[in-house]
Amino acid sequence: MRGADLSDLEALAWQIELGADEAIGDAPVNRFEEAKATETPVTEAPAMESKPAAPRGSDVSATTASGAPPGPDTDAHPRIAEAGSLEDLAEMLKAWDGTPLKEGARNFVFSDGLPGAHLMVVGEAPGAEEDRQGKPFVGRAGQLLDQMLAAIGLSRSETDPAKAAYITNILPWRPPGNRTPSEQEAGMFVPFVERHIQLAGPRVILTMGNTPTKALLKTTTGIKRMRGNWVRHEATALPLIPTFHPAYLLRQPADKRLSWFDLIAVKKALGGEEPQIGTPL
Ligand code: URA
Repeated sequence: MRGADLSDLEALAWQIELGADEAIGDAPVNRFEEAKATETPVTEAPAMESKPAAPRGSDVSATTASGAPPGPDTDAHPRIAEAGSLEDLAEMLKAWDGTPLKEGARNFVFSDGLPGAHLMVVGEAPGAEEDRQGKPFVGRAGQLLDQMLAAIGLSRSETDPAKAAYITNILPWRPPGNRTPSEQEAGMFVPFVERHIQLAGPRVILTMGNTPTKALLKTTTGIKRMRGNWVRHEATALPLIPTFHPAYLLRQPADKRLSWFDLIAVKKALGGEEPQIGTPL
């Protein structure tokens, strides 16, 4: 589907944007020739239609048939509540075979920053760079996240909990092709993330984008309505504020203005101002 006037560089940039950012063979393969060689008449529709990957951090709102995000399959989980430390939890999560996502990822991505930091940031899932390095938010979106944190005097490399941030994602494995995880995939990891928050012990939670906001708050309301509003995170009783995902802000820089309000709200809460918790939207 290459446009006639698309340069090779533009076509490459477009493919990377869609998530095709890994070379998996030494030589290019012409799939059109392959298909012709094995062509058979199509008699019925394939059992499962594949959905085009939505850009990471996008604002698309997927809902289940019932309109509610699917709950985790708790029977399939190990005894998460028994994880007594972040190390225990990381080990348990890494060993957990409840999802095939694990097979497609290169590295397990658990967290970065200072456990015990007053702010805990929850993102979506590792991207290509995070998968390579085994650390969350180290690609372009991560650089913007670092700038956002710096704007309110915080850093993931700080050792003072009041000036530090602790960072994780809902998914510890990179979804294939960098696609947005389904609500079901995200839901499977919620019990782990809830325990993760309890063990890390922040004072305030900042969710970035639709995936962590919907998963942790168990809502189907999208980030555009949720952002900037303080809500109580039920599982931990902590104040939580959603904001836009930095990957979204890279595509929509005009919305950085709104994130700035959210960051100011975080700064005030960390400074001791009581967050004005509203009714969940
Ligand atoms: N986007 C995320 O949500 N998390 C990462 O770690 C990187 C990009």
